[in-house]
Amino acid sequence: MTERMFEEKQHASLYQQYRFAPPDELKELILQYLDKKKGKPHQLAVDLGCGTGQTSRPLTPYFQQVVGIDVSESQVEEARAVQGFPNLTYRVGTAEELPFPDASVDLLTAASAAHWFDAERFVKEAQRVLKPHGCLALFGYNDSMKIHHESCGDQLNIIYEELKQELQPYTSTKVTGASTKLKDLFEVIPFPDKERIETIPIKEQLSVKNILGFFQTFSMYQAYLRANPKAATALLEKTASRILEEIKATSTDAKVDFMWEYYCVLACKPE
Ligand SMILES: C[S@@+](CC[C@H](N)C(=O)[O-])C[C@H]1O[C@@H](n2cnc3c(N)ncnc32)[C@H](O)[C@@H]1O
Repeated sequence: MTERMFEEKQHASLYQQYRFAPPDELKELILQYLDKKKGKPHQLAVDLGCGTGQTSRPLTPYFQQVVGIDVSESQVEEARAVQGFPNLTYRVGTAEELPFPDASVDLLTAASAAHWFDAERFVKEAQRVLKPHGCLALFGYNDSMKIHHESCGDQLNIIYEELKQELQPYTSTKVTGASTKLKDLFEVIPFPDKERIETIPIKEQLSVKNILGFFQTFSMYQAYLRANPKAATALLEKTASRILEEIKATSTDAKVDFMWEYYCVLACKPE
């Protein structure tokens, strides 16, 4: 059964503001893989669990057509509100039942989404819609992120670990699945040509405001907010003031180093 964790409008709006687009390193890795395995032309890419389109939009220069699909109407509505991508369309739907003919898709992506899918049904559907030599690129990051600012790395990470601990009771088992970096899903992909890259390290300077916004997009934070709005808001406020105190800043516009790691499953359908 499809889990419905991303339905609220305010959650979708936070997504639009604070979720990350795939870093260039990762985008290039995927496009080079597709070039090597399938070659051009790249006609159709489908971005599954597209959310508000963070991965769908960066794919548009490389494909004749890109389609983003998400089960949440609110996420798709936010995605559609971003103009300027004439070869990009969105549909509400599930990764397990795709509205495409057999052997019609060059690339299927899923960014921070594949752990939510029904693995067996999704893999079967991927096998059906991919062209011969078409590729799968399933990627994401787990919650082992690090924050650093001058000499205050350790304390900032303690603050983050404490936030995670408070959110732990609200964490879906599906999210726990992401911490295995899609190991189980990788096992059920029936294509012999497949690989799983466990660590692609990324470092960026982000404002404290961005980082707090990103934390608010977590499904476990949203679950906490639904269960206990006062406590969830207080947790975020406490986290903000602890970070600012630690880095000796007064505004959440202050920037810190943010480090996290992507994983990526790549697979190519045989002839
Ligand atoms: C963590 S969000 C990631 C969104 C976006 N790809 C990103 O990187 O920001 C996961 C998304 O997957 C969607 N989703 C969950 N299960 C799905 C399914 N079975 N089929 C399609 N979308 C699904 C959710 O509605 C949500 O928007």
